[in-house]
Amino acid sequence: MTSAASDRAQDPTTGHEWWRTAVIYQVYIRSFADADGDGVGDLAGIRSRLPYLRDLGVDAVWVTPFYPSPMADGGYDVADYRDIEPVFGTLADADALITEAHDLGIRVIVDIVPNHSSDRHVWFQAALAAGPGSAERARYVFRPGRGPDGAEPPTDWHSTFGGPAWTRVPDGEWYLHLFAPEQPDFDWENPEVVEEFEDILRFWLDRGVDGFRIDVANALKKDQSFPDVGTEDESVLVPHEGPTHPFWDRDEVHEVYRGWRKVIDTYAGDRAFVAEAWVDDPGRLALYTRPDELHTAFNFNFVRAAWDADELRRTIDVSMAAATEVGAPTTWVLSNHDVTRHATRYARLDRTGGGVADGERVRPDTPLDPELGLRRARAAVLLLLGLPGSAYVYQGEELGLPEVVDLPEEVLADPIWERSGHRVRGRDGCRVPLPWEPAGPSLGFGSAEPWLPQPADWADLSVQAQQGVDGSTLELYRSALRLRRELLGRGGLEWLDSPAGSLVFRRRTPAGEVLCAVNLGTEAIDLPTYDRVLLSSVPLEGDHPHQLPGDGAVWLT
Ligand code: NOJ
Repeated sequence: MTSAASDRAQDPTTGHEWWRTAVIYQVYIRSFADADGDGVGDLAGIRSRLPYLRDLGVDAVWVTPFYPSPMADGGYDVADYRDIEPVFGTLADADALITEAHDLGIRVIVDIVPNHSSDRHVWFQAALAAGPGSAERARYVFRPGRGPDGAEPPTDWHSTFGGPAWTRVPDGEWYLHLFAPEQPDFDWENPEVVEEFEDILRFWLDRGVDGFRIDVANALKKDQSFPDVGTEDESVLVPHEGPTHPFWDRDEVHEVYRGWRKVIDTYAGDRAFVAEAWVDDPGRLALYTRPDELHTAFNFNFVRAAWDADELRRTIDVSMAAATEVGAPTTWVLSNHDVTRHATRYARLDRTGGGVADGERVRPDTPLDPELGLRRARAAVLLLLGLPGSAYVYQGEELGLPEVVDLPEEVLADPIWERSGHRVRGRDGCRVPLPWEPAGPSLGFGSAEPWLPQPADWADLSVQAQQGVDGSTLELYRSALRLRRELLGRGGLEWLDSPAGSLVFRRRTPAGEVLCAVNLGTEAIDLPTYDRVLLSSVPLEGDHPHQLPGDGAVWLT
């Protein structure tokens, strides 16, 4: 164990606002590691790979929902918030994961899903049984329909996964689901819902988790007059927003998080929240991270940005300014389990591509240059990890994994595929199980066929194939994470003049000065004056190179 890791291991629950600079690794549990050989990842699988995460050099893991779930939406349909899905393990496994991670100096963030439950949740089952007007129904959003016999939905709202956001039950009422019909929305006007979630937070805080990632944090509060949206837009995951939208990013949602902050602040150990809120106005996003609310929020504008120097610089400046206003750190994200992996987004032949526009995904017929995509992805991570604030790494990006764009239709499991009438393939392509070894039935993921098939050429991208190999993407990430921890922890950012199509900035930190140069164009650019190359995403020429090739990035001191 390195001495930094061992220091943290001595006392994993204290630290100086660790979440301001942390690198957090996202574990999509179904696809990380399968210890029990059923083809689906599990808690024991994560435990077995904790040493890998320690050696990678991350500060924390965020584990996607592990609760009992019918898996109508990959676990984001929770049937019981205080237990573990048997496919993933037991509560004892969760406890062991928390303890073992802490022993290795890794913090654990769990996913909380407050906007909706599964339709198999006891509360929803009770709501169905109890009928209109009951206290059981009042925990969800049930309404009468419109039209003479109430046969029309109460509003024109669309589900984010396609189709109407309302489903009718046999007694004639309709219930709201902003996502799949198997995910009924809670009624956050009901104090019982508020109390229940504060209690769920305590349940996991008592078990030692270091924080929560809050699912669709910007959707909990609905306009109580239930107005029509008046648009046919069915955009997926990238909604409208602002205080006047009937359900996205309403001002009232903040009162929920002020309550949550009071709960988490009663616990020692610097625990933290991160909001998942697709809010594209950085000023409105920053409201979630005011001092009495959440500690951090994902900055999805970085995910949305194209591989374009001006756009990225603008995004960086605006995000940092907005976060600074409220005293919060910025976060940086390139990929997650909902968007096309960035090695593939950046592989689009159209140079301006790379961002995630409204629900847009790379499709099987999109013209791609995978080598270019990987080259840019390697440069992008030096940009991401060079910035001040906290950063997220989505499992497999450290291997340079691309999106699997050609999964056979019969294996597609994302509800978007069915709900869109087979128009949109959905998010399975970024959820394919990780390759750990170059051989075996699931490339070391487990002993059985994985729940989604892995491309054969992923053998060469496996952890074992890249470990210790100079210049491999895995080693690039390891070096970057080590250098970041040693040199880039604190301190602001200062832009330097640089040729068009490139970004060059200086970080002055207590540990020294680092320059980060990123060339987003095709022609080589001249590097600023420096002493030593710390790390490069591309091979450089000569002992003291003066140029950085296209689509490359370098850290200098
Ligand atoms: C955001 C999650 O990341 C996504 O996977 C899920 O489908 C929706 N929220 C609904 O819970």
